[in-house]
Amino acid sequence: MRFDRLWINARIATMAAGAPPLCPGALGARNGRIAWLGPMAALPTHEATETIDCGGRWMLPGLVDCHTHLVFGGDRSREFELRLEGASYEAIARAGGGILATVRATRAADEAALVASALPRLDRLLAEGVTTIEIKSGYGLDRDTEARMLRAARRLGAMRAVAVVTSFLGAHALPPEARDDRAGHVARLCDEILPALAAEGLVDAVDGFCEGIAFTPEEIAQLFAAARRLGLPVKLHADQLSDLGGAALAARFGALSADHLEYTAESGVEAMAQAGTVAVLLPGAFYVLRETQLPPVAAFRRHGVGMALATDCNPGSSPLTSLLLAMNMGATLFRLTVAECLAGVTREAARALGRLAEIGTLEPGKACDLTLWDIEAPAELVYRIGFNPLHSRVFRGQPC
Ligand code: NIG
Ligand code: FE
Repeated sequence: MRFDRLWINARIATMAAGAPPLCPGALGARNGRIAWLGPMAALPTHEATETIDCGGRWMLPGLVDCHTHLVFGGDRSREFELRLEGASYEAIARAGGGILATVRATRAADEAALVASALPRLDRLLAEGVTTIEIKSGYGLDRDTEARMLRAARRLGAMRAVAVVTSFLGAHALPPEARDDRAGHVARLCDEILPALAAEGLVDAVDGFCEGIAFTPEEIAQLFAAARRLGLPVKLHADQLSDLGGAALAARFGALSADHLEYTAESGVEAMAQAGTVAVLLPGAFYVLRETQLPPVAAFRRHGVGMALATDCNPGSSPLTSLLLAMNMGATLFRLTVAECLAGVTREAARALGRLAEIGTLEPGKACDLTLWDIEAPAELVYRIGFNPLHSRVFRGQPC
């Protein structure tokens, strides 16, 4: 067998469902893809351009952050102070702060400024082993600024060794100029803005915020119908602050994921299970907003709904640029097991992006995106707080 690069003497957690670790294992890559992996003892006769001895380090798939608002203008630290003084997230939003404060700052930023401010956040995530990141629009709310955000996201993907998956989140909040014309605004989102951005190749999926302070289930259904007409997959910020039936609505449209889900009822969980919709849990936002309502983890388990974990990196409810910390929070706050946390930032996160055939587990034929860690057991990645044991990251077969 011929490999461009061969990693030997690793302890490999492939994260494929039910697969035991390979200790010691080897993995060979050719043309950026995994050509072979298995126990060292079974390594076939081969030629490799480069061989890397992992010295017993743990190897996992590259991590996947499947829900971020990484690109935005401005800063919301003042709102953090207001919340400490007792103001609620919803009250700040209703008073024109919150998402709309970031919209004003984002509209005032050009593409270069959006890229420059997002780059250090991206670099923090890459330093922890992220090889695929989802980035949403949603702080422009008009055609030009939404396009600028998505172009900035694509630029970030070209500047670093990382795969960027974009989501159009034009239905994140009602912009002030549309206050007296909700219906007209939703129609423009569906019939003008989304099709134009999709035609420019900027949209991999369509997202919305279904909530009292955002859009109604009926409005989201209109948006999802528009996405369906364009052949785009959908996902939804659902049931974060109240139960509007968002999870069931997302499932009805065959959504890749429903995200947040603190207030999701059992019927919503059942609908997600039927549709194969992944539950993306966002403990960073839960922590920052000091929520007390836990997402229905036991029901997700009972119904076999896959659970992913993500940072939700955004300037308001989750200024978090650590997927390792998101895992720790998933375990400590949501009581996920270590195995669920690890699957939540690899296999299930890849599934939540509709990319499981390509990434998320280490299996022959998939992209060779992997991470090497200076740890004694994978549980350390979840257990330790504020500690980053990443040794190195490999993207499409190239160490970086
Ligand atoms: O995912 N839930 C809505 N959107 C973001 C928050 C955005 C913001 O506050 O700027 C979230 O938590
Ligand atoms: Fe979000």
